[in-house]
Amino acid sequence: MSAQAGFFTSSIGRKVVVAVTGVLLVLFVVMHLLGNLQLFAGAEKFNAYAAFLQSMGPGLWVARIGLVVIFLAHIVNAIQLSRESRAARPEGYVYDNVVQASAASRSMAHTGILVLVFVIVHLLHFTLGILQPEYYEFLDDQGRHDVYRMVVSGFQVPAFSLAYLFLMAVLGVHLSHGISSVAQTVGLSTMGNRKKIELIGASVAWLIALGYISLPVSVLAGIIR
Ligand code: HEM
Repeated sequence: MSAQAGFFTSSIGRKVVVAVTGVLLVLFVVMHLLGNLQLFAGAEKFNAYAAFLQSMGPGLWVARIGLVVIFLAHIVNAIQLSRESRAARPEGYVYDNVVQASAASRSMAHTGILVLVFVIVHLLHFTLGILQPEYYEFLDDQGRHDVYRMVVSGFQVPAFSLAYLFLMAVLGVHLSHGISSVAQTVGLSTMGNRKKIELIGASVAWLIALGYISLPVSVLAGIIR
């Protein structure tokens, strides 16, 4: 095995891959949120934004393929790390920090799986229009795909809005642990500043989650309609 291949399959190599891909995914989630917050600006702005993304043509496909590769690298390495840490944990080990670390990584695995399920369902919903096909066909008065009407009609169904709300909260929990784990992997976190970094990580995570949650809530409340 070459030195590089050895690094990427070592525990620290995998942690670095999970951290770097995690940061890239957070960047995507923030960009996607900024785009989606334009729902508050009305149909014209939102549909123009969606049409602009579609007009990127091959660039959009490069970004999509890049996103899939990053997502897969994140998941495969995270699963492998969690397996290795479970295998390395001796039975009946009672030191507090070990128990805490494994509880946090177990919760990362659970919330991570839910986020993955969310992304799959979300793609079936808004990207492929399979879940509510009746809302996928709308065109606006300029003949563009009426993404605004599709999203608003989707969230006017309380079951969909509530499912999104719950899953965005799960995303908040996942990012809340994830952001401080990245700081630890890259060596920013020390005994002295650990609590502060956890607080910053949680604040960023919940700002993102609340930004997303504001959308279905505003549709249910009739603020976006
Ligand atoms: C209230 C929450 C959200 C809304 C309203 C929303 C809206 C949308 C819409 C309308 C699309 C389709 C864009 C188009 O085809 O024109 C889309 C695609 C997508 N969304 Fe979301 N989204 C939300 C949350 C999320 C979250 C939290 C994630 C990631 C964890 C996410 C990941 C994606 C991905 C990966 C795509 C596919 C992008 C593509 O095909 O180019 N979304 N979203």
